[in-house]
Amino acid sequence: MKKLVLLIAAGCVSMALAAEAPASYKKCVTCHGADGKKTSFGNDVIAGLAKATIVEDLKGYRAKTLNRHGKANLMNPNAANLTDEQIEELATYISGLPK
Ligand code: HEC
Repeated sequence: MKKLVLLIAAGCVSMALAAEAPASYKKCVTCHGADGKKTSFGNDVIAGLAKATIVEDLKGYRAKTLNRHGKANLMNPNAANLTDEQIEELATYISGLPK
């Protein structure tokens, strides 16, 4: 029973933080901007993209099978060490950013 209460409490905390950038987004800011709209590295605006698209893209860069703008050499290292969980949380966050 105590475990259940703890789980519910943890769930509330993570929901309350949902609008905050996950720690894994920190290293994306230089190139994609805190708002996901920076494009000066040759990438598209990522803010508000469909979650499934972002998951697919990040897995593509992680596997080095995606090179949409010929600039994957800049993006691949940033996806290389992401776990599936981090990809999921990043996609949720970025898809929720205003376009
Ligand atoms: C050194 C700069 C740099 C950093 C840091 C970086 N990216 Fe990228 N990102 C790029 C570039 C350049 C592309 C376009 C690559 C290509 O040619 O396909 C890209 C593409 C993307 C795309 C696909 C959008 C498109 O243009 O088609 C997503 C989604 C993305 N990045 C998310 C992230 C996330 C999430 C992080 C942090 C974990 C991150 N990026 C960190 C430079 C960066």
